[in-house]
Amino acid sequence: MRRKLAAGNWKMNGTGASLSEISALAKMYPDASVDILVCPPATLLDRAAHAEQASAVLVGGQNCHAATSGAHTGDLSAEMLRDAGATSVILGHSERREDHGEANEDVRDKARAAMDAGLTAIICVGESLQQREAANTLDIIGGQMSGSIPDQSTGENLVVAYEPIWAIGTGKVPTLEQIGEVHDFIRSRLERRFGEGVGRSVRLLYGGSVKPDNATEIFGVSNVDGALVGGASLKAQDFAGIIDALQKA
Ligand code: 13P
Repeated sequence: MRRKLAAGNWKMNGTGASLSEISALAKMYPDASVDILVCPPATLLDRAAHAEQASAVLVGGQNCHAATSGAHTGDLSAEMLRDAGATSVILGHSERREDHGEANEDVRDKARAAMDAGLTAIICVGESLQQREAANTLDIIGGQMSGSIPDQSTGENLVVAYEPIWAIGTGKVPTLEQIGEVHDFIRSRLERRFGEGVGRSVRLLYGGSVKPDNATEIFGVSNVDGALVGGASLKAQDFAGIIDALQKA
């Protein structure tokens, strides 16, 4: 059985004052039946990992460099994230693909580095509105998966997040049929490439405008093992509505 995962991506939001949100979550869920992960900005990782009672909440990074060390001003290695207390790292988010020109191969190299450092890589895939309207969604997702998921992937070190770009921060959500179609496709591609055992053990998250009031129906879709949540993960109260829905799913 895949353990469900509620992951929050804080993006470029949060200073020390926001650590109270993590402590609040940890207090609300001392013994959750799902994994709870918060990915704050890197400046907060170490403090987040050591926040009050924070052992109930996992913390993760939002990016890492593909190299283990060296002359890369401003970058962070996977080992550094791990050293700061991260257990996972989000890679290939559409905002990084867009803002930093990250191609599938870059994402794959970063994912290798993350896995080598003992982190779980949460690899994001997703189509633009134009690609969906041109009925190219599954081709795009398939290409992103082939290009950015490394061969060494397992159910422990890989999570795949389906994040349609047009649903991120817009309040627009695909229909449940659309989510199901993509998640079933991702599952079958993983099984084909890695074999049924590994393919079935990788957790698949949906991301894009997940809120407490739409979480229950999204979590009822086949092959949805949790969510990657942006805006609604910033406040413990909102994120709790999503975690509650996932625990009941
Ligand atoms: P929102 O939940 O704010 O739409 O963001 C989704 C996302 O990009 C998570 O990585």
